[in-house]
Amino acid sequence: MGQDEIIDALNKALAWELRAVAMYAHYSAYVSGIHRPHLSVHFSNEVTESITHASTVRSAIVKLDGKATTERAPDEIIHTNDYLLMLKEAHKTEKAASKTYQSILPMVKELGDDELYDSLEVIYFDEMRSVEELRMMLK
Ligand SMILES: [Fe+2]
Ligand SMILES: [Fe+2]
Repeated sequence: MGQDEIIDALNKALAWELRAVAMYAHYSAYVSGIHRPHLSVHFSNEVTESITHASTVRSAIVKLDGKATTERAPDEIIHTNDYLLMLKEAHKTEKAASKTYQSILPMVKELGDDELYDSLEVIYFDEMRSVEELRMMLK
């Protein structure tokens, strides 16, 4: 596994986090109806978490002497006022993010950098928790 391949994979994760920041900030602003008070806060907390994840991944790319992307993943962010659709889009996003980190972890393990592995595994667990939380919210 080449270092360039790991940097590419980390850049995909970073682009995904940058998209999550934009999507959750958008949904936090637009969510309406009776669920607005708690969902607006929930989405806003996801913005903060995604900024933190992006920062960790960016630092990992810097550590590997790579060039970190500033572009978000191109997947469309669906504009809606429907909170259920927002939650479904969030669920899709979290599943995609957890898959991305799941594919990165074995590459970083091979690299033998325990600190890097640990920091990315923490993010992977965050994404897994979000997937499960959204699954429960959508029940
Ligand atoms: Fe994330
Ligand atoms: Fe997430």
